[in-house]
Amino acid sequence: MSAQRVAALSELEQDAAIRVEVDGVPMALVLDSNGEVHAIGDTCTHGDISLAEGFVDGETLECWAHGSAFSLRTGKPLNLPAYEPVPVYAVVIDGDDVLIDPTILKDIS
Ligand code: FES
Repeated sequence: MSAQRVAALSELEQDAAIRVEVDGVPMALVLDSNGEVHAIGDTCTHGDISLAEGFVDGETLECWAHGSAFSLRTGKPLNLPAYEPVPVYAVVIDGDDVLIDPTILKDIS
């Protein structure tokens, strides 16, 4: 599988999340205040809630339902009630194109 275009970089709003889907894989796409683009699994691991509907705060995305904040860098929840991480996908920027291959996870080590 190859990376697919999911958005235009110039159309992303800073500190906001949008939901994108690549080959049926839902992701929350975030342009943080440092200009870095992150893509994490969109489904909260505590419930069937879209994280893209949550709140961006620095390098975290908070689920609106019960308040678990997930790290945009590692996918790990930083507080309960969620305790399982969401996947973090590798994002490629090519000019104005934001590209993601859902089979390639970001190296978070
Ligand atoms: S559904 Fe996300 S924290 Fe409960």
